[in-house]
Amino acid sequence: MNTIQKRLEKLRQQIEDHNYRYYVLNEPSISDSEYDALFRELQNLESEHPEFIAPDSPTQRVGAPPLEAFGTIIHRVPMLSLENAMNKEELYAFDERVRKILNSSKVNVMSNEAPRITSLLLTSELKELYASKEITYVAEPKLDGLAVELVYVDGKLTNGSTRGDGITGEDITRNLRTVKSIPLRLRFSLFDEKEKGSPSVVEVRGEIFIEKKGFIQLNKTRLDRGEPPFANPRNAAAGSLRQLDSSITAQRPLKFFCYELGYIEGKSFDSHEEALQTLKSWGLPVNPDIQVCQGIEKATKYYHELEEKRESLPYEIDGVVIKVNSEAERNKLGARSRSPRWAIAGKFKAQQATTIVVDIEASVGRTGAITPVAHLEPVNVGGVMVSRATLHNQDEIDRKDIRIGDTVLIQRAGDVIPEVIKVILDKRPNGTQPYRLPSTCPICGGDIIRPEDEAVARCQNISCPAQVKGRIEHFASKRSMDIDGLGYKLIDQLVDTGLIHNVADLYSLDVEKVSSLERMAEKSASNLINAIDSSRKTTLARFIYGLGIRNVGEHLATVLASEFKQLHALMNAELEQLQNIDEVGPIVAESIVKFFKSDDNINVIQQCLDSGIELEPPPPDYSSQKLSGTTFVFTGSLSSFSRNEAKMMVEAIGGHATNSVSKNTDYLVAGPGAGSKLTKAKELGTTILTEEEFLKLIES
Ligand code: IVH
Repeated sequence: MNTIQKRLEKLRQQIEDHNYRYYVLNEPSISDSEYDALFRELQNLESEHPEFIAPDSPTQRVGAPPLEAFGTIIHRVPMLSLENAMNKEELYAFDERVRKILNSSKVNVMSNEAPRITSLLLTSELKELYASKEITYVAEPKLDGLAVELVYVDGKLTNGSTRGDGITGEDITRNLRTVKSIPLRLRFSLFDEKEKGSPSVVEVRGEIFIEKKGFIQLNKTRLDRGEPPFANPRNAAAGSLRQLDSSITAQRPLKFFCYELGYIEGKSFDSHEEALQTLKSWGLPVNPDIQVCQGIEKATKYYHELEEKRESLPYEIDGVVIKVNSEAERNKLGARSRSPRWAIAGKFKAQQATTIVVDIEASVGRTGAITPVAHLEPVNVGGVMVSRATLHNQDEIDRKDIRIGDTVLIQRAGDVIPEVIKVILDKRPNGTQPYRLPSTCPICGGDIIRPEDEAVARCQNISCPAQVKGRIEHFASKRSMDIDGLGYKLIDQLVDTGLIHNVADLYSLDVEKVSSLERMAEKSASNLINAIDSSRKTTLARFIYGLGIRNVGEHLATVLASEFKQLHALMNAELEQLQNIDEVGPIVAESIVKFFKSDDNINVIQQCLDSGIELEPPPPDYSSQKLSGTTFVFTGSLSSFSRNEAKMMVEAIGGHATNSVSKNTDYLVAGPGAGSKLTKAKELGTTILTEEEFLKLIES
């Protein structure tokens, strides 16, 4: 190995080690930026020496060129499925079966004939069984994702596949390599000294899934891009794994937990618990919520507890898996044709139900986004009464053809708002109509507009009561009007009590009105009024930003301020004029024009200006101006220099200073007490500078 190869190897080891700390131990030991620096160094070194790029380098997780089709992989040990138990009684029956086989020498446990328990009543025979030693179980969350198998040869990930029919699966190695929590090398092969007795082949099974948080974010991005959202995290994970283009998979928030050993060469374990611990020490992520339970009673308690906790878990589960811990006992129990006798899935109550869409309401969010919401005939879904479901947007309604009166299948997924999965067309009554979102806002009657390439329609009126709180919050925020102490809760109170209806109303508040609010001391009220007062003096850019025009962020607000100088100029700007500005594209230009077309918006702005808001225009940009040949006049009292010094400065830049203002005067520099010269300059439209502005101009 030359020095470059050594450095590459060292970097890969370090990165893989930090992945382990982050994904498996949940205890990162370096910051994100330090990690990024290591990663970049590796990327750079590899791009200088592509001949040394290895498929198991951490840089190779970004995906590979698209495939025509997936190949197949035969599982060395079939991937079985699990028998289901729907309740506590069935879990106890499973335990009885297990004990009976393990306690009986008569049963031929390796046969496919399952021993039968004919009655759940405690016969004397079963009582005896209960008296005997309890079985040790391992209880695990039953993740609602996709089962996969990973094959490591000499510690290196060589193959990854789906379960398929249990015998053969699809070869999705390239996709699985992009999943960050899947180690590309097991830790026993990572460092120079190989651990003694490390296995030559390790085949593990586990679940690929997407956490609830990642799912919400993923769907949000898809909706924003006008793509159909996934119905649930499981579908999202399945769709991501089945991509022929692994670079798409790489962008999906897929996670992996390992839960079984399929096959191992060169090592064995006495128990499942020991196997999981070892797999974890080799760098495979193992669900921290797994528990060892002594006896079926504790395992059942785990099942009930997890069902209670289901909503608050970061990932979706549809039950628990209860597994016999001892390897010897597992072997004695054996398997039926499709499922092992040593494990059972304790399923939770269904999270889907059918019901009728009674009405569809267009609800308006804090940003004006219109979301269609189905009102449902109340139905119990997994223990929770559901009477509403989100329909996302018009495209989604069209795609699923959801109509008022339809019978629909709904699903409740974790803490996500219930969704309509599909319409049961057989049950559609006669005379239904396709649903269309209204063209005016149901709250304020303002126009609803859906930009051409967006999925979301929005109410355009800034005084729309539905949006008003969000808008006020934005207006008051640090980077716009900076009204200290005016937070979310206070805004709620002010709007709910009817003291304010829009941002302009803030300026008509007084201490008396504010202290009439519940739990509002006079001192706090007067602090708020002071803060509102001081916000009156602000810059044009901050005010523009504070208006919350769609697509106009802080930077663009600054650009618009320096381009237009006066608010009225911006308000009257035509589409073309806006589009001529470098940083303004057609979508932005349109949303600006639309904003200032609304009478309501204009009224609010006028009300702000009437209440004494002063908008300081941006300082002129002197750097591009030519000064030679320009004429200056000075008036009023000057504090940092004398008239004479001023004259010398002007001459030094090639201009000249005169005493009276005429149409030939380019600049009037006015100090305090300026009189008739200032009046005349204003009449003539001469540029008027303060002393400071003059100095800046000269310096430039
Ligand atoms: S063990 C022979 N453990 O459930 C036992 N499976 O119906 C093999 N699953 O296809 C599975 N979480 O997708 C096991 N902790 C867990 C699991 C789990 C989810 C899924 C897996 C499998 C299905 C079996």
